[in-house]
Amino acid sequence: MELENSVAVRNEGRTGEKAAVAETKKVFVKTYGCQMNVYDSQRMTDALAADGYVATDAIGEADLVLLNTCHIREKAAEKVYSELGRIRDMKAERALEGRQLTIGVTGCVAQAEGAEIIRRAPAVDLVVGPQTYHRLPDVLARVRDGGKVVETDYALDDKFEHLPQPKPAEIIKRGVTAFLTVQEGCDKFCTFCVVPYTRGSEVSRSVAQIVAEAERLAAAGVREVTLLGQNVNAWHGQGPDGGEWGLGRLLFRLAEIPGIARLRYTTSHPRDMDDELIEAHRDLSTLMPYLHLPVQSGSDRILKAMNRRHKASDYLRLIERIRAARSDIAMSGDFIVGFPGETEADFEDTMTIVREVGYASAFSFKYSPRPGTPGAEMNDHVPEAVKDERLQRLQALLVEQQQAFSVSMVGRTIETLIEKPGRQAGQKVGRSPWLQPVIVDEKAGEIGDIIPVRITGTGFNSLHAEPVAEAAE
Ligand code: 5AD
Ligand code: SF4
Repeated sequence: MELENSVAVRNEGRTGEKAAVAETKKVFVKTYGCQMNVYDSQRMTDALAADGYVATDAIGEADLVLLNTCHIREKAAEKVYSELGRIRDMKAERALEGRQLTIGVTGCVAQAEGAEIIRRAPAVDLVVGPQTYHRLPDVLARVRDGGKVVETDYALDDKFEHLPQPKPAEIIKRGVTAFLTVQEGCDKFCTFCVVPYTRGSEVSRSVAQIVAEAERLAAAGVREVTLLGQNVNAWHGQGPDGGEWGLGRLLFRLAEIPGIARLRYTTSHPRDMDDELIEAHRDLSTLMPYLHLPVQSGSDRILKAMNRRHKASDYLRLIERIRAARSDIAMSGDFIVGFPGETEADFEDTMTIVREVGYASAFSFKYSPRPGTPGAEMNDHVPEAVKDERLQRLQALLVEQQQAFSVSMVGRTIETLIEKPGRQAGQKVGRSPWLQPVIVDEKAGEIGDIIPVRITGTGFNSLHAEPVAEAAE
């Protein structure tokens, strides 16, 4: 097969000198799913930058299209196949013009479906699972040599060791808030969840690796870092002292890095909130008072069937302890309605736990059977219409709580991290400690500043604010 992006000779510069310039290859990455996929897409782009690719937001310009896929719920694979149909047509049009388009599928659908993707969508050139994306340049070289490549091993080598680091300019182009994956995979095997199968078993990065990456982010101008992991609070990495550290201790260490003003972590399992982590919430002002701690259901029977390995009362007690440590903490959660066997009474238990906790934000889903998970094999699947109806009731309650939380901010002075220009001219958007977008006048501060603002009103999913001179409460 011909080289996909050959070296071109271009007429460069005003003097008209001729110079051999490698024509820039462009990659378009479409990201589905969670924040970890957002992080992975960035790291794939970094890996490809070392191979001469620059990222583009315009699919029409791309030489390489990557779909970084998610497999967590519903027909995710089907969505990918229909998107692939559209890209296949683009590839065919390109071929008529004598140009090439390389198509890749990465992420969890790639891991779950493997070579089946190329059987069903022969226009696809490469399929790369989440554990092997550091090998992308090598995979592309093999594709250029005329092959189709499927790489879905679980990592034998540490992908993070092999990934090139982005340049400071590239880091800050992505924003003053950044994700940093510290842990991947999951050993919990909740019976509804496909993650342990697509992302493999739990792997924690070392303290040294994480600190080095956080320092690079800080040096580039990042102010807020969110540590990511499927089960982030189960992180237990090797410390510089050779001992094993937990997430709490890691947060204390990261808080020492100059420039990093805010830390967050997501997503957590209630079983893994240890004392040191709760102490970090008590002692670190850098650790934002917002915690995503999914409970999934309020019914002990369903929690047991889900293999969550805790009861509703354990969760409530835990939240009490966290709130005792940090009184202004806002809770966020995930809920599944219509898990196999869920009765009306079980669902009412979920409504009850939501009322008892009071969530600042939450995500709720209809159960969708994932192939290969124990839940999919269970009896007593709940009819779709019942799931729909329960989801509506639950969401109405959650929206009510979220709005009440926003309204409770009005009149308060809070610290806001100015993040980016607003959608409307003359505005900038900041981020509150509780992850709410805060809309301010563009002159309120520069991007990256953390300033006190007074909340003047609420919008749809956002807060409006004016700058104030005094420090926040
Ligand atoms: N069906 C519905 N929701 C699911 N989630 C995970 N697997 C499923 C499934 N099979 C939800 C859980 C999890 C969030 C990331 O997605 O609530 O916390
Ligand atoms: Fe999935 Fe449960 Fe692991 Fe979360 S803890 S990733 S829901 S198996």
